[in-house]
Amino acid sequence: MDKRGSAEQLMKRNCAGLILVAALASGCYYDVEEELYPSSATACDTAGVNWTIDIEPLLSANCFSCHSAGTASGNVILEGYQNALVYANDGRLLGSVSHEPGYSAMPLGGNKISHCHIEVIRTWILNGTPEN
Ligand code: HEC
Repeated sequence: MDKRGSAEQLMKRNCAGLILVAALASGCYYDVEEELYPSSATACDTAGVNWTIDIEPLLSANCFSCHSAGTASGNVILEGYQNALVYANDGRLLGSVSHEPGYSAMPLGGNKISHCHIEVIRTWILNGTPEN
């Protein structure tokens, strides 16, 4: 190997090293972003919880398949503020979604709703079930 050849070798090696460092650096950057993203996405915001924006869509997505005005499984209707209010006030709404003893675990045969969704319902009830 002559001097020029070894200099080229060295440059190639340095280049490869540089690319590796760049890849690692960007890898670290994405790691950090991945760490940050879910933590902000899973933050549970229970401030100003209300019926129209939070509770009805939540019940609609998880419960109306069985508890709409049309289906009324177990004679339970959760569609419409006044109907849902009955179960919010007698404790069965929170008791059933948090799978507390003495209540039928809901959604029936399905996965428990997320911890955050349970907290949203709990906060709504603690705040006096606002309809706004
Ligand atoms: C697959 C159908 C189905 C889904 C989905 C479902 N339920 Fe039910 N639910 C039932 C049936 C059937 C009953 C009556 C029998 C029983 O209590 O297990 C019932 C009963 C209830 C009761 C009365 C429980 C009691 O202890 O008296 C409440 C409250 C209730 N559901 C709330 C909900 C909520 C809130 C959701 C959504 C998070 C939901 N359900 C989703 C089928 C369903």
